[in-house]
Amino acid sequence: MAKQPIIVLILTISCLLVSTLDVYARKQVPSHVGEEAASFLRDVCGGREKVMQIHVYVQDLRIGHENATVVEVAKAAGVTDNSPYAFGSVHVVDDLMTEGPSINSRKLGRVQGLTTSADLSTFGIAMNINIYFTDGPYAGSSLSILGRNQVMDERRELSVVGGTGIFRYARGYLIQTSYSTDDAAQYAVLEYNIYTTYDAQM
Ligand SMILES: *[C@@H]1O[C@H](CO)[C@@H](O)[C@H](O)[C@H]1NC(C)=O
Repeated sequence: MAKQPIIVLILTISCLLVSTLDVYARKQVPSHVGEEAASFLRDVCGGREKVMQIHVYVQDLRIGHENATVVEVAKAAGVTDNSPYAFGSVHVVDDLMTEGPSINSRKLGRVQGLTTSADLSTFGIAMNINIYFTDGPYAGSSLSILGRNQVMDERRELSVVGGTGIFRYARGYLIQTSYSTDDAAQYAVLEYNIYTTYDAQM
Protein backbone atom coordinates (compact mmCIF):
# COMPACT_ATOMS: atom_id res chain seq x y z
CA MET A 1 0.00 0.00 0.00
CA ALA A 2 2.78 2.43 0.99
CA LYS A 3 4.38 1.83 -2.38
CA GLN A 4 1.43 3.26 -4.29
CA PRO A 5 2.17 7.01 -3.75
CA ILE A 6 5.76 6.42 -4.87
CA ILE A 7 4.54 4.77 -8.07
CA VAL A 8 2.15 7.66 -8.70
CA LEU A 9 5.00 10.10 -8.15
CA ILE A 10 7.27 8.23 -10.54
CA LEU A 11 4.49 8.12 -13.16
CA THR A 12 3.83 11.84 -12.78
CA ILE A 13 7.51 12.65 -13.17
CA SER A 14 7.76 10.39 -16.24
CA CYS A 15 4.75 12.10 -17.81
CA LEU A 16 6.19 15.56 -17.16
CA LEU A 17 9.45 14.39 -18.66
CA VAL A 18 7.66 13.01 -21.70
CA SER A 19 5.69 16.24 -22.23
CA THR A 20 8.91 18.24 -21.96
CA LEU A 21 10.48 15.95 -24.54
CA ASP A 22 7.34 16.31 -26.64
CA VAL A 23 7.61 20.11 -26.65
CA TYR A 24 11.30 19.76 -27.44
CA ALA A 25 10.50 17.31 -30.25
CA ARG A 26 7.89 19.68 -31.69
CA LYS A 27 10.50 22.42 -31.81
CA GLN A 28 12.78 20.08 -33.73
CA VAL A 29 10.31 19.53 -36.58
CA PRO A 30 11.56 21.67 -39.46
CA SER A 31 8.78 23.89 -40.76
CA HIS A 32 8.92 22.39 -44.25
CA VAL A 33 7.96 18.94 -42.84
CA GLY A 34 4.48 20.18 -42.04
CA GLU A 35 1.67 19.35 -39.68
CA GLU A 36 1.46 15.64 -40.58
CA ALA A 37 4.92 14.91 -39.18
CA ALA A 38 4.38 17.22 -36.21
CA SER A 39 1.20 15.36 -35.21
CA PHE A 40 3.07 12.05 -35.59
CA LEU A 41 5.57 13.21 -32.96
CA ARG A 42 2.79 14.47 -30.65
CA ASP A 43 0.68 11.32 -30.94
CA VAL A 44 3.47 8.89 -30.07
CA CYS A 45 3.69 10.29 -26.53
CA GLY A 46 0.28 11.97 -26.43
CA GLY A 47 -1.59 9.56 -24.14
CA ARG A 48 -4.07 8.68 -26.89
CA GLU A 49 -3.17 5.02 -26.85
CA LYS A 50 -5.46 2.38 -25.31
CA VAL A 51 -5.67 -1.40 -25.58
CA MET A 52 -8.54 -3.47 -26.97
CA GLN A 53 -9.39 -7.07 -27.72
CA ILE A 54 -10.98 -8.00 -31.04
CA HIS A 55 -12.58 -11.42 -31.48
CA VAL A 56 -13.33 -12.49 -35.04
CA TYR A 57 -13.54 -15.57 -37.27
CA VAL A 58 -11.77 -16.16 -40.57
CA GLN A 59 -13.30 -18.26 -43.37
CA ASP A 60 -10.40 -20.16 -44.95
CA LEU A 61 -11.60 -21.62 -48.28
CA ARG A 62 -8.53 -23.58 -49.31
CA ILE A 63 -7.17 -24.67 -52.67
CA GLY A 64 -9.60 -27.25 -54.02
CA HIS A 65 -12.68 -25.47 -52.64
CA GLU A 66 -15.10 -24.27 -55.32
CA ASN A 67 -14.79 -20.67 -54.04
CA ALA A 68 -11.18 -20.86 -52.86
CA THR A 69 -9.83 -17.63 -51.33
CA VAL A 70 -6.26 -18.95 -51.29
CA VAL A 71 -4.02 -19.47 -54.35
CA GLU A 72 -0.50 -20.81 -54.70
CA VAL A 73 1.63 -18.29 -56.57
CA ALA A 74 5.11 -19.86 -56.38
CA LYS A 75 7.04 -22.91 -55.34
CA ALA A 76 10.63 -24.13 -55.59
CA ALA A 77 11.23 -26.46 -58.54
CA GLY A 78 12.37 -29.89 -57.36
CA VAL A 79 12.04 -28.96 -53.66
CA THR A 80 8.48 -28.02 -52.65
CA ASP A 81 6.84 -31.12 -54.13
CA ASN A 82 9.40 -33.39 -52.42
CA SER A 83 9.09 -31.68 -49.03
CA PRO A 84 6.62 -33.10 -46.51
CA TYR A 85 6.10 -29.50 -45.34
CA ALA A 86 5.75 -27.93 -48.81
CA PHE A 87 8.92 -25.93 -48.14
CA GLY A 88 9.25 -22.96 -50.50
CA SER A 89 5.60 -22.67 -51.44
CA VAL A 90 4.07 -19.18 -51.39
CA HIS A 91 0.36 -18.48 -51.21
CA VAL A 92 -1.76 -15.35 -51.55
CA VAL A 93 -4.79 -15.20 -49.26
CA ASP A 94 -7.95 -13.07 -49.31
CA ASP A 95 -10.11 -14.71 -46.61
CA LEU A 96 -13.44 -13.33 -45.44
CA MET A 97 -13.52 -12.22 -41.78
CA THR A 98 -16.83 -12.61 -39.95
CA GLU A 99 -18.31 -11.73 -36.57
CA GLY A 100 -19.40 -15.30 -35.81
CA PRO A 101 -18.09 -18.71 -36.89
CA SER A 102 -20.74 -19.14 -39.62
CA ILE A 103 -19.78 -18.01 -43.12
CA ASN A 104 -23.20 -16.33 -43.23
CA SER A 105 -22.65 -14.24 -40.10
CA ARG A 106 -21.93 -10.51 -40.34
CA LYS A 107 -19.03 -9.72 -42.68
CA LEU A 108 -16.37 -7.58 -40.96
CA GLY A 109 -13.49 -7.51 -43.42
CA ARG A 110 -10.79 -9.44 -45.21
CA VAL A 111 -7.54 -11.12 -44.18
CA GLN A 112 -5.18 -10.47 -47.09
CA GLY A 113 -1.56 -11.24 -47.74
CA LEU A 114 1.21 -13.74 -48.23
CA THR A 115 1.86 -17.02 -46.44
CA THR A 116 5.17 -18.80 -47.07
CA SER A 117 6.05 -22.36 -46.10
CA ALA A 118 9.35 -21.45 -44.52
CA ASP A 119 10.31 -24.39 -42.29
CA LEU A 120 12.26 -27.42 -43.53
CA SER A 121 11.32 -29.67 -40.60
CA THR A 122 7.69 -28.89 -39.70
CA PHE A 123 4.65 -26.93 -40.91
CA GLY A 124 5.96 -23.46 -40.08
CA ILE A 125 4.40 -20.65 -42.07
CA ALA A 126 5.87 -17.16 -42.30
CA MET A 127 2.83 -14.86 -42.26
CA ASN A 128 2.69 -11.40 -43.81
CA ILE A 129 -0.93 -10.31 -43.76
CA ASN A 130 -3.16 -7.26 -43.45
CA ILE A 131 -6.45 -7.40 -41.60
CA TYR A 132 -8.66 -4.94 -43.45
CA PHE A 133 -11.90 -3.93 -41.72
CA THR A 134 -14.71 -3.17 -44.19
CA ASP A 135 -17.64 -3.12 -41.77
CA GLY A 136 -18.33 -2.65 -38.06
CA PRO A 137 -16.77 -0.08 -35.72
CA TYR A 138 -13.29 -0.23 -37.32
CA ALA A 139 -14.36 -0.03 -40.99
CA GLY A 140 -11.63 1.54 -43.10
CA SER A 141 -8.84 0.75 -40.64
CA SER A 142 -6.29 -2.05 -40.95
CA LEU A 143 -3.86 -4.06 -38.86
CA SER A 144 -0.56 -5.42 -40.14
CA ILE A 145 0.39 -8.90 -38.91
CA LEU A 146 3.72 -10.70 -39.10
CA GLY A 147 4.97 -13.85 -37.47
CA ARG A 148 5.59 -17.56 -37.50
CA ASN A 149 2.51 -19.76 -37.68
CA GLN A 150 3.28 -23.31 -36.57
CA VAL A 151 -0.02 -24.62 -37.86
CA MET A 152 -0.07 -27.92 -35.93
CA ASP A 153 0.01 -26.03 -32.61
CA GLU A 154 -3.32 -25.41 -30.94
CA ARG A 155 -2.49 -21.74 -30.30
CA ARG A 156 -0.44 -19.80 -32.82
CA GLU A 157 0.86 -16.41 -31.70
CA LEU A 158 1.52 -13.74 -34.31
CA SER A 159 2.67 -10.12 -33.91
CA VAL A 160 0.62 -7.01 -34.54
CA VAL A 161 3.32 -4.75 -35.94
CA GLY A 162 1.35 -1.73 -37.07
CA GLY A 163 -1.85 -0.42 -38.54
CA THR A 164 -3.74 2.41 -40.16
CA GLY A 165 -6.72 4.59 -39.17
CA ILE A 166 -7.77 3.88 -35.60
CA PHE A 167 -4.87 1.40 -35.42
CA ARG A 168 -2.15 3.86 -36.35
CA TYR A 169 1.04 3.00 -34.36
CA ALA A 170 -0.60 -0.31 -33.30
CA ARG A 171 1.37 -3.03 -31.60
CA GLY A 172 0.21 -6.18 -29.89
CA TYR A 173 -0.36 -9.82 -30.65
CA LEU A 174 -2.86 -12.19 -32.17
CA ILE A 175 -3.75 -15.70 -31.01
CA GLN A 176 -4.95 -17.89 -33.85
CA THR A 177 -6.80 -21.13 -33.15
CA SER A 178 -8.75 -23.47 -35.42
CA TYR A 179 -12.47 -23.29 -34.70
CA SER A 180 -13.35 -26.08 -37.14
CA THR A 181 -11.60 -27.95 -39.93
CA ASP A 182 -13.21 -29.93 -42.74
CA ASP A 183 -10.37 -31.43 -44.79
CA ALA A 184 -12.71 -33.15 -47.26
CA ALA A 185 -14.38 -29.83 -48.08
CA GLN A 186 -11.07 -27.88 -48.00
CA TYR A 187 -12.74 -25.51 -45.55
CA ALA A 188 -11.53 -24.30 -42.17
CA VAL A 189 -12.80 -21.63 -39.80
CA LEU A 190 -10.08 -19.88 -37.84
CA GLU A 191 -10.61 -17.93 -34.64
CA TYR A 192 -8.59 -14.75 -34.07
CA ASN A 193 -8.21 -13.09 -30.69
CA ILE A 194 -6.35 -9.85 -31.30
CA TYR A 195 -4.91 -7.77 -28.46
CA THR A 196 -3.79 -4.44 -29.80
CA THR A 197 -3.26 -0.80 -29.01
CA TYR A 198 -5.42 1.77 -30.78
CA ASP A 199 -5.83 5.51 -30.99
CA ALA A 200 -8.58 6.33 -28.48
CA GLN A 201 -9.16 9.81 -29.91
CA MET A 202 -9.93 8.84 -33.49
C1 LIG B 1 -19.62 -21.02 -53.91
O1 LIG B 1 -20.27 -19.78 -54.06
C2 LIG B 1 -21.55 -19.85 -54.66
C3 LIG B 1 -22.05 -18.44 -54.85
O2 LIG B 1 -22.04 -17.73 -53.66
C4 LIG B 1 -22.48 -20.69 -53.77
O3 LIG B 1 -23.73 -20.82 -54.37
C5 LIG B 1 -21.86 -22.09 -53.56
O4 LIG B 1 -22.63 -22.82 -52.66
C6 LIG B 1 -20.43 -21.95 -53.04
N1 LIG B 1 -19.79 -23.28 -52.98
C7 LIG B 1 -19.50 -23.90 -51.85
C8 LIG B 1 -18.87 -25.24 -51.97
O5 LIG B 1 -19.68 -23.39 -50.74
